[in-house]
Amino acid sequence: AKYTWVEKDTCIACGACGATAPDIYDYDDEGIAEVIYKSDCNHGNTEIPESLYDDLDDASDGCPTDSIKIADEPFNKEG
Ligand code: F3S
Repeated sequence: AKYTWVEKDTCIACGACGATAPDIYDYDDEGIAEVIYKSDCNHGNTEIPESLYDDLDDASDGCPTDSIKIADEPFNKEG
């Protein structure tokens, strides 16, 4: 299983992830990215389906600040 979470403290609102993986990432009012898949609210607890793994990897590779985190287990973040 794969999970993803955005480290908002290091995101510079470059906008790449939402363009690459719009089903997984969107932006808050300041343009900072967050995980929106199935209303995850950037907790990092929603399992990402295999059909979106390519998008996940592309978004992670494309983030200039390495703010897109991916792990095999839920992140359990505050959001
Ligand atoms: Fe931020 Fe990286 Fe996305 S800087 S907007 S998390 S590509």
